[in-house]
Amino acid sequence: MALTTRPLTVDDFDETLRLGREAFGTPPPGTPAPSRDDWPGAGRHNFGTFDGDQLVGRIMGRDYHSWYGGREVPTSGIAGVTIVGERRGEGLLDDMFHAVLEHGRAAGQVVSTLFPTAPGIYRRYGYELISSYDTVEVPMAALAQVRPVEGVTLRRAEAADFDAVRQVYDVWAAAQNGPLTRRGVSFPATGEDLVSAFTGVTLALDESGDAVGYALWDRGAGYGASATIEVGDLLATDPRGYAALWRFLGGFATVTGQIRLETSGADPARLFLPSAAWKVVGQHPYMLRVDDVVGAFEALSPTSPAEVSVPFSVAGDLLGLDGDYRLTVGSGSSCERVSGGPAGPVFSPRGLALAWSGAQNTANLRLTGHLTGPTSYDSTLDLLLAGRPLHIRDYF
Ligand SMILES: CC(C)(COP(=O)(O)OP(=O)(O)OC[C@H]1O[C@@H](n2cnc3c(N)ncnc32)[C@H](O)[C@@H]1OP(=O)(O)O)[C@@H](O)C(=O)NCCC(=O)NCCS
Repeated sequence: MALTTRPLTVDDFDETLRLGREAFGTPPPGTPAPSRDDWPGAGRHNFGTFDGDQLVGRIMGRDYHSWYGGREVPTSGIAGVTIVGERRGEGLLDDMFHAVLEHGRAAGQVVSTLFPTAPGIYRRYGYELISSYDTVEVPMAALAQVRPVEGVTLRRAEAADFDAVRQVYDVWAAAQNGPLTRRGVSFPATGEDLVSAFTGVTLALDESGDAVGYALWDRGAGYGASATIEVGDLLATDPRGYAALWRFLGGFATVTGQIRLETSGADPARLFLPSAAWKVVGQHPYMLRVDDVVGAFEALSPTSPAEVSVPFSVAGDLLGLDGDYRLTVGSGSSCERVSGGPAGPVFSPRGLALAWSGAQNTANLRLTGHLTGPTSYDSTLDLLLAGRPLHIRDYF
C-alpha cells in the first residue's frame, strides 16, 4: 500500500491522540484533556503519514517568533514527533519533515526549533544543539547569603501589571539569542491568565515604581526540608532586581528546603549567588535548523561598522538548502542566492544552524567538520554572528 502524508483534520483526532499516548504515555493527572471542538488549537499544524487508512506517523508545527540578534525571527516549533512502534526505523520521518517545514516556510518561518528526546533523530534534517532548557536546584541556605539591596521594593503583581511583566521579559529576551517572544496564541493573552497560573508573580520596583524584575513562583506542597518552591522565571533588568528577588525567595527558608528554577545557559541570575550551589536536576536540550537561508539572514540582519561581503555555500541538506549565497553587511544587511563568484567557506546544514544562532564559532565548526573551504572569512563571520548568549525559557 502506498504511503501518503497530509495535514491531519479533526476526523483524525482519535487516531492522533492514540498515537501520541502510545509514544509519550498518558498525560499527568490534572492535564486538561484536548477537546475535539478546538483541535488542534490555533497556531498548531499537524501532519500525518498514512499506510492506506492507518495513521503510522505524526508531527506538529507550531507558530512562534524567537529573539535572535535583537530581532523577532519567525520560527516553526516542532513537537509531538511520533512513528507507530512497529514501523520505526523505516525512514518515515522524511516525508513528514518535508510537509511540516514546507508549510512553515510558506507562512514565512525561516528557522525551525525543537526539543529532541534524542538529538540523533534530527541531525539528518540539519538540526543541531544550540541551548538547553534546564531545571536547577538551589538550597535556601544559598539564598540567605545574598546581600540586601536598597532602592527596590517588592509587591505582588496583579492582572493590571501584565504589561510591566512583559516589558521586563522583552528587555531580557531581546538581549539574548533564542528566547521565544511570548506573543501570540500559545501564550497568556491577559494579566488574569498570567497571575492565575502561579501562586504568585512578584515584582521588583525601582524608586520610580517601574518594574525592574519579577519572579513567577509556585509554593508547592507541605513544609520542611523536602518542600520546594518552583520558580518559572526569575528575570531582571537591573542588578537590584535580581538580588531582591533572590532574597524574597530566601524568605521561605523556614518552611522549604530549596527552590527549583527553570533556566538556561549561563543565567545572569547566578551572578548574584555567593555560593556555588546550582545543581542541574533536569535538562531539555534545544535544537535549531535554518530552514530558509536568505530569509534567516535577512531576519537576523547582522550589523558591521565596515562594509563586508561574505560568500558561502551550504552542502548536504536533505530539504533544499544546498547552494551558493552571499551575505552583505554594512550600511544595510542582505543575503542572496548567487551562482558563480568567489568560492567561500562551505557549511553543513548543522554547521549553518550553529553559526547562524551564534552557538559555535567558526573554529569549533572546523574542528567538528561542519565548516570547510577557505578560512579567509572566518573572523568576519565570527564578528557578525557571535555575541549574544543562547537561552530558551519555554518548553514545547
Ligand atoms: C523518534 C522516532 C520518531 C524515530 O522514528 P524512526 O522511524 O525510528 O526514525 P527514522 O528511521 O526515520 O530515522 C530518522 C533518524 O533518527 C535516528 N534515530 C532513530 N531513533 C533514534 C534514537 N533513539 N536515538 C538517536 N537517533 C535515532 C535514525 O538513526 C535516523 O538518523 P540517521 O539517518 O542520521 O541515521 C520514533 O522512534 C518514535 O516515535 N519514538 C517515540 C517518540 C519520540 O521519542 N519522539 C521524538 C520526540 S522529540
